[in-house]
Amino acid sequence: MKSLLVTGGAGFIGSNFVHFLMETTDVTVTVLDKLTYAGNRDSLKGVPEGRVELVVGDITDAVLVGALTERADAVVHYAAESHNDNSLQDPRPFLDTNIIGTYTLLEAARRHGKRFHHISTDEVYGDLELDDPGRFTEQTPYNPSSPYSSTKAGSDLLVRAWVRSFGVQATISNCSNNYGPYQHVEKFIPRQITNVIDGVRPKLYGAGQNVRDWIHADDHSSAVWTILNRGEIGQTYLIGADGEQSNKDVVERILKEMGLPADAYDRVIDRVGHDLRYAIDSTRLRTELGWEPRFPHFEQGLAETIAWYRENEAWWRPQKAATESRYTEQGQ
Ligand code: NAD
Ligand code: TYD
Repeated sequence: MKSLLVTGGAGFIGSNFVHFLMETTDVTVTVLDKLTYAGNRDSLKGVPEGRVELVVGDITDAVLVGALTERADAVVHYAAESHNDNSLQDPRPFLDTNIIGTYTLLEAARRHGKRFHHISTDEVYGDLELDDPGRFTEQTPYNPSSPYSSTKAGSDLLVRAWVRSFGVQATISNCSNNYGPYQHVEKFIPRQITNVIDGVRPKLYGAGQNVRDWIHADDHSSAVWTILNRGEIGQTYLIGADGEQSNKDVVERILKEMGLPADAYDRVIDRVGHDLRYAIDSTRLRTELGWEPRFPHFEQGLAETIAWYRENEAWWRPQKAATESRYTEQGQ
């Protein structure tokens, strides 16, 4: 594999993947990204010239997608509308990008006979009880809760159907919550870090009991590269790094790490239909493909992420005020 088409490569996880590829492989990359509010060309700053090309366009544009897919060895599909809260306000773009966009890419991969890897989320499985000893596995039935997670579930099912019906050489990965550099300030961890930098109290939805299973974006990237090279066609792999934390614990840790009292946060109204707990069992990926995370300690990764936001205010500042005014309108 010498050249990849990476959709959504100017977003949070996609741009981390492009940086990961530049540092650890010799592939060349074409990024196809619409540069929505969530995309940022500055997230690709510093990549070696000549190895990464950014094409600004829409994954629902069949002509453009066909041309870019034809000249790549493989497609890695990150582009999506990705924020649950936005999907509760206006689901339509989630249907267009996550469903029609994935369909458009699958048709191009089929037509040109290209390897395809689909990036998805553990949220397709719904949620677990706080006291459930179980975790999600590749066998857990789909049970999505939100417009976001239901469109991701729909896109996963399209990939499975294109493998079975048309022989597309595809794999799927479902990953837990990511953190790290280049994450939009609408998301939980960057929102709280940048609030503290601005002297604003972090905002916890409800009682903050909800649990997320955190993984560093670099570990997500290494897992995707492993699956792309060694994964079995037609298979799904769950990606996680045993990083379960309640939201309250995360906020308290951010506050302490940033030198403030652990209780210096506000409780705001809860998300509608808020999933209680996500937890990933990544045994398959570890035993069958030999993958291991590099950031087993959330505390260390979080401290590095806080440092990144402190040092890269120019990257996030332009989005901060508009993001907070949207949350204020929602009472959050
Ligand atoms: P993000 O919102 O930061 O980035 C999405 C990118 O896709 C942006 O650059 C945006 O401009 C681009 N995009 C959106 N619509 C497009 C369109 N129609 N055509 C072309 N480009 C378009 O999202 P993220 O958090 O980096 O998530 C990337 C992928 O990873 C998504 O598929 C998401 O479902 C999945 N995922 C995310 C997480 C997480 O914790 N953020 C966890 C597991 C899986
Ligand atoms: P988020 O980053 O939106 O990811 P997801 O919805 O995909 O899990 O939110 C992570 C958790 O943090 C989720 O339980 C909702 C909660 N949350 C807050 O408590 N406060 C906030 O300001 C935000 C944005 C999220």
